[in-house]
Amino acid sequence: MTNSNAKLPLEGNKFLITGITDSGSLALKIAKQVMAEGGTVVCSGLGFTPHHKGLSEKAENFLKKTYASFEETIQKELGSDVETFPLDVTLDDCMEEFGKELLKKNIQLDGYLHSIAMDKTIRPGSTVKPLLDVTKEEFFQAMDVSAYSLIALTRSLVNCNVLKNNASILALSYIGGEFITQHPYKNIGVAKAALERIVKELAFELGKSKNMKVNAIRFSAYTGSKAGSAIQGLQEACDFSHDQSPLGNAQPEDLAYESAYLLRPYGRVTGTIRYVDGGYHIRG
Ligand SMILES: NC(=O)c1ccc[n+]([C@@H]2O[C@H](COP(=O)([O-])OP(=O)(O)OC[C@H]3O[C@@H](n4cnc5c(N)ncnc54)[C@H](O)[C@@H]3O)[C@@H](O)[C@H]2O)c1
Repeated sequence: MTNSNAKLPLEGNKFLITGITDSGSLALKIAKQVMAEGGTVVCSGLGFTPHHKGLSEKAENFLKKTYASFEETIQKELGSDVETFPLDVTLDDCMEEFGKELLKKNIQLDGYLHSIAMDKTIRPGSTVKPLLDVTKEEFFQAMDVSAYSLIALTRSLVNCNVLKNNASILALSYIGGEFITQHPYKNIGVAKAALERIVKELAFELGKSKNMKVNAIRFSAYTGSKAGSAIQGLQEACDFSHDQSPLGNAQPEDLAYESAYLLRPYGRVTGTIRYVDGGYHIRG
């Protein structure tokens, strides 16, 4: 017999989901799971804003196209009542305005998903640049978007008073943040290492000061998203890890289930870098 009064785990909780670009985005699967567990979501997507100054026409068009794809995906996959906001995590003013906008709309968050990464030394169909060829600009761009943004966005949300005191923050990482993988991961691997270290520092700072939790998940290699499909040799690496893992590669649904669990506003799990990879990490 089922109890119709039973509360769903995330009922009454609202989360910010970043990092949806299209139907292949891992963040979309997580947003769906959050909603299936009774939570509500607001979504931010990379897009053109008044804070973008001096861009080339090509760059501006790219941002506009990316945002249009994001909005279309949200409408189609999550419904037209889900609120959407443009956000570029490399621009402080843009993040500040985003926080203020949430406050103006009386949006209080029980947590947020950081599902953002970018590395210009990885290009679809091209060889990943050896670390010795990575320029300072490429290094710091990857670091800015993929790692520092966890600090910057958290600060904006905290300063604008839109992140509740027991909020849960979750970031997505990869085994390549620690180990040399089957496929080249190089520059972005360094940024993922920084991201994971930031998770631990923030877990300590925000746990002590605000009772917030900060965790990360290292997910299996996945070629179904834009970011994943750009990585040289990822399909072969996926096949290899699928074969080597005790349970085979984890799927986006597995990631979504664990993410929703870690986003719960209760519990005392923090500073964890959790594997959702079918057990691949236990292989030497
Ligand atoms: N695909 C994989 O194999 C895999 C495995 C483990 C972890 N991850 C991580 O999962 C996360 C999501 O990746 P995905 O595979 O779903 O690919 P994706 O391409 O769908 O997501 C990456 C997102 O980052 C956003 N982004 C890039 N620059 C930004 C900026 N300046 N401001 C705001 N947003 C920006 C993009 O718009 C996009 O939505 C990333 O952190 C990625 O490293 C991916």
